[in-house]
Amino acid sequence: MIAGLLLVGASGLARELIAAGISGVVGILDDDETLWGTDVDGVPVRGGTATARRRSERLLVCVGQGAARAAIVAQLRGWGVTDERFATYIAPSARLGTTSTVGRGSIVLDGVVVTAHARIGRHVVVMPNCTITHDDVIEDAATLAAGVALGGGVRVGAQAYIGMNAAVRQGSRIGAGATVGMSAAVLGDVPAGETWVGVPARPMGARTRDAVVTGVREERV
Ligand SMILES: CC(C)(COP(=O)(O)OP(=O)(O)OC[C@H]1O[C@@H](n2cnc3c(N)ncnc32)[C@H](O)[C@@H]1OP(=O)(O)O)[C@@H](O)C(=O)NCCC(=O)NCCS
Repeated sequence: MIAGLLLVGASGLARELIAAGISGVVGILDDDETLWGTDVDGVPVRGGTATARRRSERLLVCVGQGAARAAIVAQLRGWGVTDERFATYIAPSARLGTTSTVGRGSIVLDGVVVTAHARIGRHVVVMPNCTITHDDVIEDAATLAAGVALGGGVRVGAQAYIGMNAAVRQGSRIGAGATVGMSAAVLGDVPAGETWVGVPARPMGARTRDAVVTGVREERV
């Protein structure tokens, strides 16, 4: 039996989870040494990520940026942290359809509605008031900012980021590591790694985010 929960990353997301009243939290782990021994909204910072190796609580990686979140999960797994150690958080006010699923390590915040046959992968973050509809697939470590709306049968690739209040037309694919800007209206597919903005959404110049990260990065949001 695994008791207690450690939030990994002293981030805004961690503070949102604390404010939402997530239960069982006994501490935060963060690699910023200046935070060790301090507290964040009343929760003690107990050391760096590596501390997880010699502790036994469940873990919830609360880093807002998907590539960084995936890198921390990979690091923890490399240290022998088993799958069952990762917790999942679904806010009490979120509505998850009975035929939809949420993978281990994911965070689904207040007011999210997930309708039928949607699959939310592992270590995905879905911020408040998102609407995920029938047959959507959200791959691992993707992030949906507040208010995102997905039509049916949308696929969001691993580590993709969809900005606040963006809308995605049914059947579209958002490629791995892609970014969709705030308030965009996505009418078709967004290629992996590209940033698209606007109504209708178009590529944002030649600028792209980093491709999907498989190694370890120190960046935190
Ligand atoms: C798309 C985004 C990632 C681009 O960020 P960036 O690379 O720092 O881009 P900049 O702010 O330098 O803007 C670059 C250009 O894109 C435009 N732009 C940026 N975001 C835009 C958006 N959402 N819609 C339309 N145009 C946008 C800017 O006006 C600017 O245009 P210009 O070159 O003609 O002046 C960012 O603006 C965004 O939308 N992020 C999502 C934020 C969010 O949802 N946060 C939730 C936090 S919980």
